[in-house]
Amino acid sequence: DTVFILNGPNLNLLGTREPDIYGRQSLNDIEAMCAETAGALGLQTVFRQSNHEGQLVDWLHEARERGAKAVLLNAAAYTHTSIALLDAIKAIEMPVIEVHLSDPETREDFRHISYVGMAAAATVQGLGAQSYVVALEKAAAL
Ligand code: DQA
Repeated sequence: DTVFILNGPNLNLLGTREPDIYGRQSLNDIEAMCAETAGALGLQTVFRQSNHEGQLVDWLHEARERGAKAVLLNAAAYTHTSIALLDAIKAIEMPVIEVHLSDPETREDFRHISYVGMAAAATVQGLGAQSYVVALEKAAAL
């Protein structure tokens, strides 16, 4: 089984980007953690990042076309703005697990709304890079 792990805007800068909020691990480090966890769970992963909203929509469609078991989606700031991502999650009719390094609910008011969360099968947030590991375990258990 394959799990798509999709990452949104500015996550390519992890490691140096606001490390007090997001930690010092790079996205490559997180990819390596995911690969290790997935291997132990008997899952394949497709791990990608884009700064472009429509690219994330296209990858959600691709996950369905390829028959992925689930998608982990850290849509970053698009979480709080994107009706297009909400509609895509509804359209693909497969489990999408919302992931965040930080806990948006304890941050600025504008992060309290999550369009992704309105259609996600589950949300894992506030655990730093470990959020991805816990989300993968949830995906494996589906
Ligand atoms: C984030 C939280 C979002 O509010 C923010 O815009 C991000 C990262 C996180 O992983 O904590 O870019 O998704």
